[in-house]
Amino acid sequence: MAVSAIIAILVVSCAAFTLAAAAASFDKEFDITWGDGRGKILNNGELLTLALDRTSGSGFQSKREYLFGKIDMQLKLVPGNSAGTVTAYYLSSQGPTHDEIDFEFLGNVTGEPYTLHTNVFTQGQGNREMQFRLWYDPTKDFHTYSILWNPKHIIFMVDDMPIRDFRNLEGKGIAFPKSQPMRLYSSLWNADDWATQGGRVKTDWSHAPFSASYRGFRADACVVVAAAGGKTRCGASVGTEGTAAVAGDWYNQELDLTRQQRMRWVQSNYMIYNYCTDPKRFAQGVPPAECSM
Ligand SMILES: *[C@@H]1O[C@H](CO)[C@@H](O)[C@H](O)[C@H]1NC(C)=O
Repeated sequence: MAVSAIIAILVVSCAAFTLAAAAASFDKEFDITWGDGRGKILNNGELLTLALDRTSGSGFQSKREYLFGKIDMQLKLVPGNSAGTVTAYYLSSQGPTHDEIDFEFLGNVTGEPYTLHTNVFTQGQGNREMQFRLWYDPTKDFHTYSILWNPKHIIFMVDDMPIRDFRNLEGKGIAFPKSQPMRLYSSLWNADDWATQGGRVKTDWSHAPFSASYRGFRADACVVVAAAGGKTRCGASVGTEGTAAVAGDWYNQELDLTRQQRMRWVQSNYMIYNYCTDPKRFAQGVPPAECSM
């Protein structure tokens, strides 16, 4: 009980914070890139929706490229029977040895929980999956999913609650994303060959079209400026009026002790898969160095 009360307080204080922050317009910041009209920007750029039916899913990407940033988005996921659907929300660079920071939401049959899947790719190498349950129904309301990406950390957050911290361990020979700019992407698509209960549960198309919604995008980030020969400019808040010449606090931010404890609490109560402790994976070999830190 005490624990759920703490969560409730956190959720409420975060909602207040989100309302105070100025959100950028979807028209200005994103292009709907596929789905033949299934992706829509509504309410003067305040809302974006993606849809999936038997013929196609849909997706969008940011116009800008980021090289570090604190990026927040509010998502409301496919409600009801969402089995077989995947809502992917991620940062990715281009090219063969790409970097990527992933949130993926794997749907489920009505009443069964979504899985939040996370991964980090560095120079083309991923296989760093960690999966979580959420402590609320992600289809009832909007919740904020954040990526804090700075030269020392990649921190995944859910309603401001840190769930995963991928640290820069270049000193230990582990590559860290720091030189390839990334765009933000999201898509809603059918993955019923693997997504739900290992692929056993298929998409029930009688519930189509499936739909997910987005609002409250905010990026405090360094963006690539084409006019400046691809140099980055770090502003306080992309897409809103702030034009500070230097990056904000996020650039040096890491988890203080309290937030480290919160993350450990989430991981011990809500983490359902961790590649570092998968016996099938590292039965013979040694887990990668970042696992032993
Ligand atoms: C769906 O629900 C089942 C039963 O509760 C659970 O085992 C599974 O992890 C859930 N999520 C997915 C994506 O299959």
